[in-house]
Amino acid sequence: MSTNRKALVIGCRGQIGIELVMALRTKLGQDNVIGADIQPAESVSSEDGPYVQLNVLDAEALRACVQDHAVTEVYQLAALLSATGEKNPMYAWKLNMEGLLNILELAKEFKFRLFWPSSIAAFGPTTPADQTPQTTIMEPSSVYGISKLAGERWCEYYFMKYGVDVRSLRYPGLIGHRSAPGGGTTDYAVDIFYSALKENKYTSFLSENTELPMMMMEDAIRATIQLMESDAEKIKIRSAYNLAGISFTPKQLAEEIQKHLPGFEISYAPDFRQGLADSWPNSIDDSTAKNDWGWEIEYPMPRLVSTMLEEIAKKVS
Ligand code: SER
Repeated sequence: MSTNRKALVIGCRGQIGIELVMALRTKLGQDNVIGADIQPAESVSSEDGPYVQLNVLDAEALRACVQDHAVTEVYQLAALLSATGEKNPMYAWKLNMEGLLNILELAKEFKFRLFWPSSIAAFGPTTPADQTPQTTIMEPSSVYGISKLAGERWCEYYFMKYGVDVRSLRYPGLIGHRSAPGGGTTDYAVDIFYSALKENKYTSFLSENTELPMMMMEDAIRATIQLMESDAEKIKIRSAYNLAGISFTPKQLAEEIQKHLPGFEISYAPDFRQGLADSWPNSIDDSTAKNDWGWEIEYPMPRLVSTMLEEIAKKVS
């Protein structure tokens, strides 16, 4: 087990953070992974490992945390997602941008390796929607997407100008059973499993034929760790890599669930999130990630659905 790596995960109580901290602690040892989030320390179990209450907008506190723990790698996950961002655009911009810039400045000074997530939301309505290429038109229409595209440009800028070892992925919608999603447009693909197991029915806030790129959380965490552990010369893209899992519509997801729960029924009541989803790709070409650092998915749709049903059944029973 590596002892000279020390990781800081900012946003450790969020959907990705909870799972990433668990995976990193298994790899690096509990004490070598510091979790940080806005919640008071009393609300987080100390048995889980080191935790720091931290606001990523507080540059001085962030600096002290990085320095005190002598971290060698940082995962900056604190952000507002697409749906929440639309309700509070100015705060979403502030949190998503200043949070990133604060940590980029520290990466320049302390020379740690940095991970920051981008998203399919960085694309927009003028982007080719099928098998969206790595390099293409990007005109995002949500504040979240605008912050992700700007963030990608800043990451590349800090790499080119200051040699900051920053790495990023354009995550698709992420589907996991250990943590709850918060404020995203792709959250329906997690909610549906809880409703299916509790009530055998679900009302989707996206329309039946809305195809979006999605990924099992296990795959996303593995991709993140693999990217961060790759030799620097393999990382040719310093903005963010396209990352594809699978693509499906709410109707197709419901059909796969029906194979396990025959009486399951889905209905559709699209809301404002439909507009966000319509502006994003249907599917993603991730051949650059495959070629550069060997990315491969392990959870095709049938495995994703059976795993989610099995794991969530344990929680709802
Ligand atoms: N899953 C995110 C969202 O829906 C997209 O990155 O906001």
